[in-house]
Amino acid sequence: MQLQRAELVMDRIEAAAMGQESAHTGLGDLVHTLRLLWRGRANLIALWSEKDFERRIFAHQFLNRRITVVNDPAGVKHVMSTNFDNYRKSVYTERALKPLVGQGLFISEGELWRRQRRIAMPAFHRTRLRGFAEGMTQAAEEMLQRWERHKDGAELEVGGEMAAVTAEVVCRAMFSGDLGRERAAGVFEAFERYQRTLGRLDIVEMTGLPRWIPRLGARRARKAVRQLDTLINGIIATRRREGVERNDLLDLFMNARDPDTGEAMSPSLLRDEVAVSFLAGHETTANALTWAFYLLSQHPEAENRVREEVDRVLGGRRPEYDDLTELPYVRAVIDEGLRLYPPVHIFSREALGDDRIGKRYVPAGSMVVISPWLIHRHRELWSEPDTFRPERFLGEEVKQHDRFAYLPFGAGPRLCIGKGFGLTEATIILAMVAQRFRLRLRTGHVVEPLGRLTLRPRGGMPMTLHRRDATPRSGVEAAEFEESDPVN
Ligand code: HEM
Repeated sequence: MQLQRAELVMDRIEAAAMGQESAHTGLGDLVHTLRLLWRGRANLIALWSEKDFERRIFAHQFLNRRITVVNDPAGVKHVMSTNFDNYRKSVYTERALKPLVGQGLFISEGELWRRQRRIAMPAFHRTRLRGFAEGMTQAAEEMLQRWERHKDGAELEVGGEMAAVTAEVVCRAMFSGDLGRERAAGVFEAFERYQRTLGRLDIVEMTGLPRWIPRLGARRARKAVRQLDTLINGIIATRRREGVERNDLLDLFMNARDPDTGEAMSPSLLRDEVAVSFLAGHETTANALTWAFYLLSQHPEAENRVREEVDRVLGGRRPEYDDLTELPYVRAVIDEGLRLYPPVHIFSREALGDDRIGKRYVPAGSMVVISPWLIHRHRELWSEPDTFRPERFLGEEVKQHDRFAYLPFGAGPRLCIGKGFGLTEATIILAMVAQRFRLRLRTGHVVEPLGRLTLRPRGGMPMTLHRRDATPRSGVEAAEFEESDPVN
C-alpha cells in the first residue's frame, strides 16, 4: 500500500514535470478546474486541448477525482480487452444513463451483464440482419417520399430527419412497426428531452464531491423517464394481451429464458432492455448518418463516387441486404465519418483494483477515460488525421490501422452488440438518399460538434435538399463550404 502511494506521488511529480498533469493546489487552480469543467458541461469535447491529440497516456486531477486518459492503442487494448475484468462503467456513465436504462445491457455489470448479453446476442446475429434490412429500406423509402413533396432547394434539419428515420427503423425491429406514429413520436421526444438534461457532464461526479449535492436538470430528466415508462410499459402490456407471435426484438426478449434457471426477464428488466435498444440503437446511427451527409456536402468528389457506385450496383432499385458487399465506397464513407465524428465520443471506466497502464499507475477507484474523438484524430496514429478520406478504409490501406486506434463501436467483450445492425442501416439509408438527392449545408452555417451523451452538431444540421435530376449547385459554393469548416 505504502509502495503504491509512493508510486502515485512519483507519477504525479513526473507528470507535472512533463506538463501532463496540473497540480491543483491553490484557489487559482480550483477556479481553473471549475471553469474547465463548466466548459465541459456545455460541450464535453471542449475539455480537450490541441496538445491532447499528440499525447498517449496522461492524467488529470479534478479536486478529489483522478482521471487517467488513455489515448494509446496498447493502453486501450489493456483496459477494454486484456484486463477487462478490472474495469467497470464509471459512475459518470451510470449516473447519466441509469435513470433511463435501469439495469439494461449498456450499463449493467458482472453476472447480470453476462447473462443479458448471452440472451440478447441471437437477436443481433448476422442471420437476422436480412430480415431487419427490409424494415430499414421501408422506413427510408417513406422518408424519401416525404422529401419528394418538398420543393427543390427546401431546407431540412438533417439531424432531426435522421433521428426520425432511425427511430422508425428501431421501432420496426423492436415492435414490428405496430407502435403507431403518435407513440413513436412520444418515445422519440422523451429521449430528446432526457438527452438535453442528463446528457451533460456531471460536475459533482467529475470532481468526486458528495453525491447528495442536487444536480441541474435531474427533475426534468425524471419527468422524461416517467413518460417513457408509461409508453414502453403500455406497449409491452398490449403485446402480452394480444399474445400474437411477431418474431421481433420484443418477442425475443419476452421469450428469452435464463439458460441456468429457466427464468424469464422480470417486467422491469424487460422494460430496461427495450429502452437500451431504443436509446443505443437510434441516436448513434442518426448521428453517424448526419455527419456522413455533412462530410459528403463538403467533398463533392466523394459524393460523385458514392453516386457512381450506387447507380452502377443498384441501377435505381432499392438495395437489399446482399447488395451491401457491392457498395464498399458507401461503407467507407460511413467508416470514415465514424472516425472523424464518432457518435460515442467518450468511454469512462472505473478501476476496480490497482493497475498499471503502460508506465502509469492507476489506483483502484480512479477513473479511466478513452476518447474516440481524440484517438481517431491522433497525430501519430493516423496520416492526415483531420482529413476526410474514405479511401483509407479500402483495399490494403485499411490493414495499416491499429485495431485499437479505431473505436466507433468500442472494443473487447462490450463491443457494440448492434454494430452489424447500425452499419447495415447506415449503408442502406445513405445509398437510398444518394440515389435521389444531394444535400447541401445552409450557406454560411458553421458546424460545431457538440459532445453530450453522443456527438452531435450544435443546433442541428440545416441542409438544403436537391433532386439529383435538378441542376446541381456550382463548385463555387462547394469552395465556400470548405472555408466554413475549420476541421475538414
Ligand atoms: C452507428 C451506430 C452505432 C454506434 C456508433 C454504436 C456505438 C456503441 C459503442 C461505442 C458501444 C460500447 C460502449 C462502451 O463500451 O462503453 C455500444 C454498445 C452498445 N450498443 Fe451500440 N452503436 C451503434 C448502433 C447500435 C444499434 C443499432 C444497437 C441496437 C439496436 C446498439 C446497441 C448497443 C448495446 C445494447 C450496447 C451495450 C452492449 C454491452 O455493453 O454489452 N448499438 N454501442
